[in-house]
Amino acid sequence: MRAIIKLLFSLQATLVVASTYGTEYERNKLSAKKARGENASSTPYAVKEPPLTTDWTYKLGTNPWPEYPRPQLQRSEWQNLNGLWTYQNASGLDAVNNPPFNQTLGQEVLIPSCLESGISAEGLMNFPVGIQTSNALYSWFSTSFEVPSSWSGKSVLLNFGAVDYEATVFINGQKAGFNRGGYSAFTIDATKFVKIGGHNEMLVFVHDPTDSGDYVIPIGKQTLRPSHIFYRPCSGIWQSVWIEAAPENYITQLDVSASMDGEGTPSPVQVTVHGSDSSTHEILATQASTSDGAFQFNVASPKLWSPDSPNLYNITVTLGDDQVSSYTGFRTISKGEVDGIVRPLLNGEFIFQFGTLDQGFWPDGLYTPPNKEAMVYDLQVLKKLGFNMLRKHFSYGKIKVETALFYQACDQLGLLLIQDMPALRPIQSYTLENCTSLTYLPDADQQAEFDRQLAVLVNQHKSYPSIGTWSIANFFEVIYNEGWGQVIQGYPEFGLTDMVRSLDPTRLIDSTTGWYDHGAGDYSDNHHYANPQCGTPFYSTASSPYDPTRIGFQGEFGGIGNNVSIEHLWNVQEAINTVNQTYEIDETLSAWNYRAHFLLSELRDQTELFACSGGVWTQTTDVEGEVNGLLTYDRRVLRPDVAQWQADIKALYDAAAGRHNSSMSRM
Ligand SMILES: *[C@@H]1O[C@H](CO)[C@@H](O)[C@H](O)[C@H]1NC(C)=O
Ligand SMILES: *[C@@H]1O[C@H](CO)[C@@H](O)[C@H](O)[C@H]1NC(C)=O
Ligand SMILES: *[C@@H]1O[C@H](CO)[C@@H](O)[C@H](O)[C@H]1NC(C)=O
Ligand SMILES: *[C@@H]1O[C@H](CO)[C@@H](O)[C@H](O)[C@H]1NC(C)=O
Ligand SMILES: *[C@@H]1O[C@H](CO)[C@@H](O)[C@H](O)[C@H]1NC(C)=O
Ligand SMILES: *[C@@H]1O[C@H](CO)[C@@H](O)[C@H](O)[C@H]1NC(C)=O
Ligand SMILES: *[C@@H]1O[C@H](CO)[C@@H](O)[C@H](O)[C@H]1NC(C)=O
Ligand SMILES: *[C@@H]1O[C@H](CO)[C@@H](O)[C@H](O)[C@H]1NC(C)=O
Repeated sequence: MRAIIKLLFSLQATLVVASTYGTEYERNKLSAKKARGENASSTPYAVKEPPLTTDWTYKLGTNPWPEYPRPQLQRSEWQNLNGLWTYQNASGLDAVNNPPFNQTLGQEVLIPSCLESGISAEGLMNFPVGIQTSNALYSWFSTSFEVPSSWSGKSVLLNFGAVDYEATVFINGQKAGFNRGGYSAFTIDATKFVKIGGHNEMLVFVHDPTDSGDYVIPIGKQTLRPSHIFYRPCSGIWQSVWIEAAPENYITQLDVSASMDGEGTPSPVQVTVHGSDSSTHEILATQASTSDGAFQFNVASPKLWSPDSPNLYNITVTLGDDQVSSYTGFRTISKGEVDGIVRPLLNGEFIFQFGTLDQGFWPDGLYTPPNKEAMVYDLQVLKKLGFNMLRKHFSYGKIKVETALFYQACDQLGLLLIQDMPALRPIQSYTLENCTSLTYLPDADQQAEFDRQLAVLVNQHKSYPSIGTWSIANFFEVIYNEGWGQVIQGYPEFGLTDMVRSLDPTRLIDSTTGWYDHGAGDYSDNHHYANPQCGTPFYSTASSPYDPTRIGFQGEFGGIGNNVSIEHLWNVQEAINTVNQTYEIDETLSAWNYRAHFLLSELRDQTELFACSGGVWTQTTDVEGEVNGLLTYDRRVLRPDVAQWQADIKALYDAAAGRHNSSMSRM
């Protein structure tokens, strides 16, 4: 017991050390720049005014995202490499063979950011000139850093939160690593490439084809030709970059799943679980084992995690000299029959899941929220209105996978997540000059690469307690056209469902949200605008009939829009032109709230009368030409009448709870 208390002490001590390194790093970076200085001719950094700002656009400064980026596998000795780097475009794939070592690249750029975004840098991309964006297909990024001499003898790990889409990393003239996949984190063991105590040069070559040429890759809703529900693309290093010190043998992955009976199964070695009340440093469980094997630990009567009481427990894991901190929440997701209806269960009880479709796009940062406060603001608005869930996101394609800090915020605030996987978009369809259209379908290799990236993403996200459902339907109508049959026989969602189930059997799977439903997965999920048709015995031609063997769910509804004045609109004429082309428009906010009340009441009725187990309102915020958010794209106008929405959302939960007590006969 005494040894364990010591462990806690040293954890606190090293946390203090981390902030010391932060300060030291600022100094190192400056001196490194100076050392390189004589030739420094980069265009200095400034925010490029985007077509719409937020309250955070000009508050970023040049040290963005100072938080430790990976809260579920956190080391204390680390240095943030975010900040000003330099950038220049490259001519093609071959450029990777000729890296611009020891050169000053032409443009200072803020990392992390999407090159196409305003916060990235002045003058990089051509907005607000119009909708045709010049996507950065090939890019060089350069920075330099010093590794503290106190890290001598340790492993130096270089981490990237995400780079869209392919990254080749060079350190001090040598190729150090490569990653493919715009949404996944990767770590390079940089030990043999770096100079301890000296100046290190890092170059990153990025290739992001988006939907150019015949590339068919997981891109979500990015496109080089944005319109309607497809948006401006994101290229480059859009999540945090950092280095950290670890011993020679170190923990590379930590999977934790903790269920309502107090059992947790992380993988390596020594695990210590701390009390959920921050005033106590009580040790609740400690367990030793060997690495590379799953093992269980028990916590007696844990406080369970739920949206209403998001209890989290800190965990310390020690492997030899390596020690990382993490956290978990004890909760069990399942499905079961309650009063004859298949329901999603949280900790054994039916929980009506009500959330929004959440795009996670920002007018100033695109994929990268301007800062953590901005990112969390959206979530706080949802919590305040009474939502207990959000869906990250599905429609035609899927965006997006967020930063680890986003999932931590959902864990902390108590928001269940339906996590969609970024779409492979087989509808890569262009109209050619002779008016014929050309469609690219994925070939077998591209499909295999999609499967690989899907597995990486599930593995990287499966320890967040807030994620309750994977949504994997990455397909589009076009897959059922003849062309697809040459690629995959039958209905591919069954195979993908099996694959995700085998990677993670602890969650529910929504296999074909809103599209052609052939019976795969746990949800009978219907999309219908604007009215819901959730678990109902009636349906329209545009939706699938409710299947009582699965969970009746409204994967999308609502979507009602309300145009706003130009100062809250994405000020790009092509986007403005599409404002009334996709969703219902209500001319005034009171008309919009009247419609919302009506639609939410319908969902409540369907919950009372039929088999509705949850719904997803379209959507959290406006995005480009879409004006159907609860918040405008700049987050400055909140459309809902807060008291009315709170009452309407509470009525949904009451209706669901009332089902168990109701004597009403079932339909
Ligand atoms: C970089 O972009 C500029 C301006 O668009 C272009 O003139 C130049 O050829 C590009 N350079 C490379 C290497 O692609
Ligand atoms: C200075 O810039 C030129 C042109 O970019 C480059 O060729 C040269 O290597 C640079 N020299 C130094 C010392 O950075
Ligand atoms: C860059 O310049 C430094 C200092 O002159 C030198 O030590 C290093 O080898 C150079 N890097 C490459 C890749 O040429
Ligand atoms: C868990 O750790 C975080 C920092 O990593 C700290 O802020 C929080 O107070 C800790 N919670 C408990 C219960 O110790
Ligand atoms: C249209 O143009 C494409 C590309 O040049 C060509 O492959 C195709 O055969 C053309 N179709 C017709 C009907 O001319
Ligand atoms: C939406 O508002 C913008 C800005 O006031 C305006 O230019 C546009 O015409 C409006 N569109 C519709 C459909 O009302
Ligand atoms: C959309 O708005 C534009 C201009 O505001 C108008 O000309 C057009 O008729 C509207 N279209 C629809 C479908 O309402
Ligand atoms: C359902 O019945 C139980 C037990 O009678 C009661 O405690 C609970 O408040 C009722 N719930 C609702 C929503 O009526």
